[in-house]
Amino acid sequence: MNSKTPRFTLITLTSLALLSGCSGDTEAPAGIAPQKFTDALFAVMEADRTVYTRKVVQRLANEEKVIKASEHWSDDKALPLPAQMFRFGSEAVAEKTDAFSYTLQSIWPINDQNSPKTQMERDGLQFVVDNPGKNFYGEETLGGVTYFTAVYPDVAVSPACVSCHNEHRDTPRSDFKIGDVMGGVVIRVPL
Ligand code: HEC
Repeated sequence: MNSKTPRFTLITLTSLALLSGCSGDTEAPAGIAPQKFTDALFAVMEADRTVYTRKVVQRLANEEKVIKASEHWSDDKALPLPAQMFRFGSEAVAEKTDAFSYTLQSIWPINDQNSPKTQMERDGLQFVVDNPGKNFYGEETLGGVTYFTAVYPDVAVSPACVSCHNEHRDTPRSDFKIGDVMGGVVIRVPL
C-alpha cells in the first residue's frame, strides 16, 4: 500500500498541471455578445418608457388632469412627451459613449424625422409590425463601419399612447389600439 501512495500523488499532480496548461486555450472570448447587450439595453429602455408613460403622463395628464403633456413643454410649462424623454436620454448617452446609439422610429411617424432612413431600419420596423412579440436583428455597413442593428417593437402600453397619436394633427394613422406595435426602437452597436 505504502509504495502506491506516492505514485497516485504524482499522477494527480501531473493531471492538474495538464489541466491548467489547457485552460488558456479553451477560454471563451471576452465580452458580451451584441444581441445580449442590445436585449439588456432595450429591457431598461422599455421599462423606463413604460413607467414614464403610465405613472407620469397617463396619471397626471389623462386621469388626474393636473398638467398637460406637450411638444412645447418648456413654453407650455407641461410634461415632455414620452418620445421627447426618450430622445433626451438618447442624446445624453451619445455625449458619453460611442459603444451604441438608439432611436425611436415608426413607419407611421408623427414627426417625419422619426421615419426609417436605412433599408435595414425599414425591414426591421416592418418585421416587428408583422411579427408581434418578435425582435429583428441584422448587420449593416454604414460609412465603412459594420454595425449590429437590432429593432424592438414599441407597443401602445397605455391609453395615453393611443389617444395622443390618433388625435394628433400630423399622424398618418389614426386607428391605433392598445397593444398595437406603433413603431420600434433601433439600437446600433459598431462591431
Ligand atoms: C401626449 C402625446 C403623446 C403620447 C402620450 C405618446 N406619444 Fe408618441 N409621439 C407623440 C409625438 C408628438 C411624437 C413626435 C415627437 C417628436 O419626434 O418630436 C411621438 C413620437 C412617437 C414615436 C416615433 C415615431 C413618430 O410618431 O414620430 C413612436 C414610435 C411613438 N411616439 C409611440 C408612442 C407610444 C408607444 C406611446 C405610449 C408609450 C406614446 N407614443 C405616447 C405624441 C405622443
